[in-house]
Amino acid sequence: MSYKLGFVSQKGGVGKSTLARATATAYAAADWDVKIADLDIDQGTSYTWLKRRLQSELQPTVEVQTFGTFAQADQRSDDYDLMIFDGAPHATKGTIEIAKHSDLVVLPTGLSLDDLEPTVLLAHSLVKKGGIDRKKISFAICRAGTNSKEQEEVRDYLSQTPYHLLDGVISEKPCFRRAQDEGRSVIECRYKGPREQADHLIQSIMNRLEELTK
Ligand SMILES: Nc1ncnc2c1ncn2[C@@H]1O[C@H](COP(=O)(O)OP(=O)(O)OP(=O)(O)O)[C@@H](O)[C@H]1O
Ligand SMILES: [Mg+2]
Repeated sequence: MSYKLGFVSQKGGVGKSTLARATATAYAAADWDVKIADLDIDQGTSYTWLKRRLQSELQPTVEVQTFGTFAQADQRSDDYDLMIFDGAPHATKGTIEIAKHSDLVVLPTGLSLDDLEPTVLLAHSLVKKGGIDRKKISFAICRAGTNSKEQEEVRDYLSQTPYHLLDGVISEKPCFRRAQDEGRSVIECRYKGPREQADHLIQSIMNRLEELTK
């Protein structure tokens, strides 16, 4: 059985690749055969991350390949236990394709209304235009600040939408940036506290995928 997991957004830089890499390394650590399909053909940032990972000889190994279209990537899905689609910086035609074919589609969002509104609008349009089952859509709070009241307000805002909100957050932290610069994922960050924080959100993604596919 092979599973498909998508990370998409309306805006760029929200944390799609960060979550895709962390989820991939978490499943690979559990001995799953995982591939990240990097659909950002112009930058291929997950592919360059893999090069840094290989140079540092980090374990577990994950495969990353850049594809021009969702369809090209999806042709390879059956070769893996899990195919992870790391979406292009902006919503494209491929975004609906990713959402349609994935068992779970994660929309990372920051805390500002400038991030939240386009995220919720994208979720609506996936349902309206793409006919995607709303249960498959999950929001993940990324690049969060440290103000807990702000986080509470955002959780409250997102809970009022008809979509699932993943437990946990990933804060904006230099150590997460540095980890990825070294070819690590955020769950492999050198500091225990941040690592546990990232683990929590990634575990929520894994739990949600299991719930939707059992
Ligand atoms: N929690 C974080 N703390 C610090 N830096 C972060 C964090 N999350 C992401 N970044 C950094 O922010 C940048 C954008 O993150 P990322 O590449 O995950 O977003 P993306 O949605 O994949 O972007 P794009 O739309 O360009 O593909 C990267 O340089 C990444 O290292
Ligand atoms: Mg990216």
